[in-house]
Amino acid sequence: MRKFNLPELPYSNDAFSGFISPETFEYHHGKHHKAYVDKMNSILESDSSYGSQPTLEELVEKTQGGLFNQAGQSWNHTFYWHSMSPEKTEAPGDLKAAIDKSFGSMNDFRAQFVEKGMGNFGSGWTWLVKNSKGTLEIVNTSNAENPIRQGHTPVLVTDVWEHAYYIDHRNARKAYLEKFFDHINWKFAGQNFSGSGIPNMTQFMV
Ligand SMILES: [Fe+2]
Repeated sequence: MRKFNLPELPYSNDAFSGFISPETFEYHHGKHHKAYVDKMNSILESDSSYGSQPTLEELVEKTQGGLFNQAGQSWNHTFYWHSMSPEKTEAPGDLKAAIDKSFGSMNDFRAQFVEKGMGNFGSGWTWLVKNSKGTLEIVNTSNAENPIRQGHTPVLVTDVWEHAYYIDHRNARKAYLEKFFDHINWKFAGQNFSGSGIPNMTQFMV
């Protein structure tokens, strides 16, 4: 039976001074993300209806209810860790051109992304996605929901559950979103934009 591992962070937990503290990573990655992966594994152990070796992407696309919640949160968090970089990165030319086309400019995109995240009521995720026509959109999802279930390709994501920012920013979601934007891993986003198919998070967890 497939057993997924908690993926390692792609940087040290003190890499984001002034944005995300080691304490937040200890809780968010070490406790919240770990609990989603552990619960997903325990459901998979008692339910063989998804085959012995499902990918995480298959579980996110095809499951419902309790298993979906754990699989969705497992995928979304892995994608989120990789959506951020402690080093400054630049958007590749093709992604930059698509951002200009959809949003006007990088600055306009920043403002619209922060505004969309501010408008995401309750717990959820704010995504940049490539839709089925190849056009970029900003979409919000609630709880564990993932836009691949609406036929979109995720390009990058930020976590707007309070557990993502409350230790460091208390209720200041806007400050967190602005700092997130300034730490986007554009290299990763570019790969997701120009790649074919759904980004592979299974590779980090098996
Ligand atoms: Fe989270």
